[in-house]
Amino acid sequence: MPLIIKDEYPEKLFREDGKRLDGREKNELRPIKMEVGVLKNADGSAYLEWGNNKIFAAVYGPRDVHPHHLAKPDRGILRVFYRMATYSVFERKRPAPGRREKEISMVISDCLEPVLFLELYPGTSFEVFIEVIDADGGTRCASTTVAALALADAGVPMRSLVTSVACGKIDGELVVDLSGIEDKAGEADLPCAMTWFNDQLSLLQFDGEMTLDEMNTSMDLASEALKKIYEMQLNALKEKYLAVREEVNQSQEIENIGGDE
Ligand code: CDP
Repeated sequence: MPLIIKDEYPEKLFREDGKRLDGREKNELRPIKMEVGVLKNADGSAYLEWGNNKIFAAVYGPRDVHPHHLAKPDRGILRVFYRMATYSVFERKRPAPGRREKEISMVISDCLEPVLFLELYPGTSFEVFIEVIDADGGTRCASTTVAALALADAGVPMRSLVTSVACGKIDGELVVDLSGIEDKAGEADLPCAMTWFNDQLSLLQFDGEMTLDEMNTSMDLASEALKKIYEMQLNALKEKYLAVREEVNQSQEIENIGGDE
């Protein structure tokens, strides 16, 4: 039997008080939480909550390439697998990776590759597995951001981190970090990613309509938001090493007490 519930969008994407439907200002990000080293079996991992998005990233490598014919004799390869869980969206998603997931995997790989030294790892691969377990708009940006953290957590040499966010236009106004409903009901969506070692964009996609001036203003909004998210990434990495230092200090204290007895 076909699903009877229709996708319905609100008529207005701003409230009477000028704020967005979720109470945000135009230049305000959704709440973001990040943590690294969350999976025991991966070489590196990270978890991100960004608004209602919940995403894990796991990194393996450098390791042998399977299937072997994909290996390159003069450099390593980066393989990204972006997947959305069947239960991550309102209407059950088919488990097999569709065209959208393949495209997003490729986009994320293109965003991350410039920061890696793949030329130092001939014949091997780095694999990044991204699992979106709850999705609510902007998952390609959130996935790029959490994947960069997982690579850093794996100790993969990197020129810098990569950070990503989307800007867009809703009800004629430019806003940062579109939620799922804003993404679907808005006029334009502009995801971008920044590689910090050279301050260059490694992603710029565009869907919708905007004037050139609006595009420039959106890039200013994005730039401000990217800096905030980058700080959060650095803090998430530092948190892990502070926790490790705490653990080492504690075990040294225990050893010292043992030695005194
Ligand atoms: O997630 P992102 O904005 O990068 O990509 P999108 O293709 O523009 O998808 C926007 C949003 O639509 C996703 O974040 C999901 O919340 C939702 N979506 C969905 O409900 N069902 C799908 N099969 C795919 C996406």
